[in-house]
Amino acid sequence: MSETRTETLEEREHKYVMGTFKRLPVTFVEGHGCRVQDADGKQYLDLVAGIAVNLLGHSHPAVAAALAQQSTKLIHTSNLYYSEPQVELAQRLVELSFPSRVFFANSGAEANEAAIKIAHKWGRLNRDGAFKIITAEGSFHGRTLAAVTAGGQAKYSAPFAPLPEGFLHVPFNDLGALKAATDAQTAAVMLEPVMGEIGVIPAAPGYLEGVRAWCDEQNLLLIFDEVQTGLGRTGRWFAHQHSGVVPDVMTLAKGLGGGVPIGACLAAPRADVFELGDHGSTFGGNPLACTAALAVLRAVEEEGLVGHAAEMGDLLQGILQDLDGVKEVRGLGLMQAAVFEEPVAKDFQLRCLEEGVVVNAVDDNTLRLVPPLILTAAEIDEAGAAMKRAQLAR
Ligand SMILES: Cc1ncc(COP(=O)(O)O)c(C=O)c1O
Repeated sequence: MSETRTETLEEREHKYVMGTFKRLPVTFVEGHGCRVQDADGKQYLDLVAGIAVNLLGHSHPAVAAALAQQSTKLIHTSNLYYSEPQVELAQRLVELSFPSRVFFANSGAEANEAAIKIAHKWGRLNRDGAFKIITAEGSFHGRTLAAVTAGGQAKYSAPFAPLPEGFLHVPFNDLGALKAATDAQTAAVMLEPVMGEIGVIPAAPGYLEGVRAWCDEQNLLLIFDEVQTGLGRTGRWFAHQHSGVVPDVMTLAKGLGGGVPIGACLAAPRADVFELGDHGSTFGGNPLACTAALAVLRAVEEEGLVGHAAEMGDLLQGILQDLDGVKEVRGLGLMQAAVFEEPVAKDFQLRCLEEGVVVNAVDDNTLRLVPPLILTAAEIDEAGAAMKRAQLAR
């Protein structure tokens, strides 16, 4: 096609792409490490990492090499056949977490769909047909109809009513509310150990322990959505390891493929109820995605990035605390948020872009930082200085 394009990218997007996303005014075209470059050649320090996805930054040589090599060997076969990379990855994830088996999906929402189906089937088998799932107000579990209903933010689900039955939302960190919401039809409790999308709210000390004890006492499944918190982000391989509380089901996605779409749902023996034909996916766990994920896990381990994330998290907190007008900084490891006293977060996000730093305003007051785990102390200093400049420009 040799037509001359007179329309801007924005105009063409408006014409051809459904308008579900509010874009920031930048088009990234290349990235290396923690830096991305826009179409005009301007460089940015990336503290968002594709929303907690690019654990190893952009174009990490180990991931690029794994993808290049695997793509010349075998990209996809379907789940009709055995697959070495899939089994290898499942084994590695189980070794890093808890005794379980894995179902592979392609995203966080799909991993959570698997968890929800497991809860329903488990309730049918073990709790007289119980199917209700208690989740947290403000939680985010993805955008499929069940996942969005599981999420505790009506703004995302209400337009799509009628919604699937059986999801109850209780305040996070309130064990009494969770107990009060439990009844004979409850099958599971599903929580993010650190709520991400709502603005990085960690579980209060003792809360997850209390929830685990309640699930044991009442014979309920405990599902942790570690789509955002998993794989080193919080300074442990999985956020639940801070508390020592082990779930029955855990979901992963985001960072797992280092940018290549892949999701996973791990079920402990007690929750391992899927049988032949119960669930499936054409792409889930395909050789390319699993090879990328194996390269990510290897690099996170070899480069000591889990401990590094914990150390860098403290420094990142420091630069957020130094910003003017911040009333609260909270988070774990490289998952941090700053809450401004005034509704300036969105404006600040734009000014940071001008200063060459990518940050994420989750609402009018709250800024979220979920950078690559390879972020260095020098880069954090640089980001802190740029953020200060962004505030002065106000
Ligand atoms: C905790 C959590 N669960 C699930 C999801 C949905 O993941 P995906 O967008 O890959 O479907 C997200 C995405 O932000 C998330 O943060």
